Amino acid sequence: MDKKEKSGVAGKVVVCTGAAGVLCSSMTEDLLRHGAKVAVLDMRKELADKFVRKMAKKGLTEAIAVEANVLDKASLEAAKKVVLGKWRRIDILINGAGGNHPKGTTPAEQMTKDSKLEDTFFGLTAEGFEFVNRLNLVGTVLPCQVFCKEMLKRGGSVLNFCSMAAYQPLTKVAAYGAAKAGIMNFTRFLATHLAPMGIRVNALAPGFFITDQNRFLMLEKDGKTLTARGKKVIAKTPMRKFGKPSDLHGAARFLLSDESGFITGVTLPVDGGFVCYSGV
Ligand SMILES: NC(=O)c1ccc[n+]([C@@H]2O[C@H](COP(=O)([O-])OP(=O)(O)OC[C@H]3O[C@@H](n4cnc5c(N)ncnc54)[C@H](O)[C@@H]3O)[C@@H](O)[C@H]2O)c1
Repeated sequence: MDKKEKSGVAGKVVVCTGAAGVLCSSMTEDLLRHGAKVAVLDMRKELADKFVRKMAKKGLTEAIAVEANVLDKASLEAAKKVVLGKWRRIDILINGAGGNHPKGTTPAEQMTKDSKLEDTFFGLTAEGFEFVNRLNLVGTVLPCQVFCKEMLKRGGSVLNFCSMAAYQPLTKVAAYGAAKAGIMNFTRFLATHLAPMGIRVNALAPGFFITDQNRFLMLEKDGKTLTARGKKVIAKTPMRKFGKPSDLHGAARFLLSDESGFITGVTLPVDGGFVCYSGV
C-alpha cells in the first residue's frame, strides 16, 4: 500500500520506544501508512533522525525523532513534553526498546562435566544478567508510568514486546527469558489495573526474526549458514522459516486499534507456530 489508508490507528498519536530498531521501525512505517502520527523514541538519536528523514522522503511526514532512554524517567518525561508540544495528546504506547545481549547469555546450552565453568550459568556476571533483565522489564515499566499517565484523560492502548522465551525458557538466554516472562505477567497486571481507566494493555510475542540481537545465535559469521541453534529453531517452527518484520504489522494494528476494543491483557504469539508445537 503506497498511500495512507483510513484505519483503526488513523489520527492516533503513537509513542514507540526502540523505534529506530529493526522490528519497530518497520512497524512505525506501517502505522504511518495507516495515518498514525508517531514519535520515534530511541536512545540512538542519530538513527531515529535518519529513519524520520527516510519516512519523509516517502511522503510519511507525521513522524518526529525524540531521544529517550527507557531506563531514565527524567529522559522519558522530557520526551513526553516534546510529544505533547507537537501533538497535544498520546493515544498509544509501544514498548519496543529491549533485546538480548551476549553479556547476559551463557555460551553453553547445558552444563556437562566437560564444560568450562565460565561458559555456563556460573559464568554469568551479575552485571550482564541485570543489564538484559533491566533493559527489557524496567524499560517497559517506566515508559508505561510516564506515557500512560497522559492516557488517563481519554483512554489509550499499550503494546509490549514479549518473546518465545516468555512461554518456555530458551537455553542460553536466562536473563532475557526471565525479563520477557516478567513482561507477560506485567502486561496482565497493568491491563487489570488500568481497565477502569479505558486503557488496554496487550503484548506481541514475536517468534524468531533475524535481527541484530540474535544474529550471532542463529547464523554463522557468513550471515547465511544456520548455526546448530538456528537449525533447531527452524525444526521447531511448523512453518519452517524465520519471521520478517512485516509479519508483525497486522497483529500490532489490531491490538492497538478499537478493533480489539474488548481485548486486554493478552500476549499474541506471531511465531509461525513455534509455541504450539512441542517439537515431536
Ligand atoms: N528480533 C527478534 O527475533 C525478536 C523476537 C522476540 C522479541 N523481540 C523483541 O522485540 C523488540 C524489538 O526488537 P528488535 O529485534 O527490533 O531490536 P533492535 O535491537 O533492532 O531494536 C531495539 C531498539 O531499542 C533501542 N534501545 C536499546 N536500549 C534502549 C534504551 N535504554 N532506551 C531507548 N532505546 C533503547 C536501540 O537503540 C534499538 O534501536 C525487543 O523488545 C525484542 O526483545 C525480538
